[in-house]
Amino acid sequence: MATTYRLVLIGFGSAGQGLARIISERGEWLRNARDLDLQIVAVCTRSRGTVYDPNGLDPALLLQTIAAGDLKQHPALVDWDAAALIANADANLLVEVSPTDLATAEPATSLIRAALARGMHVVTANKGPVALYFAELRDAARTAGVSFGFEGTVMSGTPGLRLCWSDLAAGEIHELRGIVNGTTNYILTEMEQGREYADVLAEAQRLGYAEADPSGDVDGHDAAGKAVILANVLMGAHLTPADVERVGITGITRDMVAVAAASGQRWKLIARVWRDGEHVRASVQPTRLPFSHPLAGVSGAMNALTVSVEWLNEVTLIGPGAGGNATGFALLSDILAIA
Ligand code: HSE
Repeated sequence: MATTYRLVLIGFGSAGQGLARIISERGEWLRNARDLDLQIVAVCTRSRGTVYDPNGLDPALLLQTIAAGDLKQHPALVDWDAAALIANADANLLVEVSPTDLATAEPATSLIRAALARGMHVVTANKGPVALYFAELRDAARTAGVSFGFEGTVMSGTPGLRLCWSDLAAGEIHELRGIVNGTTNYILTEMEQGREYADVLAEAQRLGYAEADPSGDVDGHDAAGKAVILANVLMGAHLTPADVERVGITGITRDMVAVAAASGQRWKLIARVWRDGEHVRASVQPTRLPFSHPLAGVSGAMNALTVSVEWLNEVTLIGPGAGGNATGFALLSDILAIA
C-alpha cells in the first residue's frame, strides 16, 4: 500500500517546479517502485496566483500554466494567501520553497511554524529558516510528532547533510570545507573560458541556479548561510550568518582568473567550518587552489564538500549543487525519508 502525501507548495520557482516535474514524469514509478503517492493539492505564489484543489492538481498542467507566465489562468485559482492555505487546506505536507531571505527568514519561518503546529510534515529548500531557526523548528517538529526535512538547503540534491548526520555519525566532525554555491562556481568556471561576468550571471539566472536576488550568491551570503547550516546542524554550533567571515566573488576579475590560470591555479569560493577549541568558526572566501587540488576540478554548478571526521580522516562528496531538478530531487529525498 503506497503512502500518500498531500502537498501544499509555497513558492513555485525552480525548486517547486523541479519537484512538480519529477512527480509529473515519475509519479507512477514512485508509486510502484517506492510505494509513494504524491498529490499536489495547492500551489501558492506571492504574485503569480494561488491554486487549490482538494482532489489534486495535475502537475503537468501546473508546469504548463506557470510556463505561460503565472497561475492566474489555471482553473483552480483561489484567492487564499499562504497562511489561509496552511490553516485550511486538506493536506499533510508543506513544501516550503519560497525565495531565501537570510536576514529575516520570513515569511517562510512563520509558515513552517504554523504547518508544524497543525501536524503537517515540512520539507524545505529554503535556507533562511534553517540558518536562523534550525533548533527551534527541529524541536517544534519533534513536539508535533512530524518531520522537518531540509536536505536541499545545502548542495541541493547531493546528500551532504544526510551523509554527515547519518553515515558519518560514528565520529565527531572536526571540519567541513568545500564549494557550496553553484552560481559562483559556474561564474568562475565560465570566466576562465574568457566570458564576461555579467553574461554568465544572467545565464546562471536563466538556468535556475541563482537566488531571486543574485547578490545573495555573488556576495557570498548564500554560501555563508550554508556554512551556518553545516555548523549548527552537524557540529552543534549556534552561529548566525553575521558570525561568518565572508568575502564574495565580486572582486575577482577576468584578469585575476587568467593570472591564476597561467600559474596553474584556479579561484574557488571556499566555505569552511571548523572547530577552534570550544568554538565553531566559519568563513567564506575566494581561494586560489592548484589545479591538482581535488576541489579545483569541481566545475560549473557542481558542489563539493570535504568532511574531516574522527577515525576516518577525510571524505569528499561531489555532485550537483543548484538547479530545479537537483533541488526537486532533494525535496523528494526528504519526503521519502519521512515515508
Ligand atoms: N543559489 C544557490 C546556488 C542555489 O547557486 O548554489 C542552491 O542553493
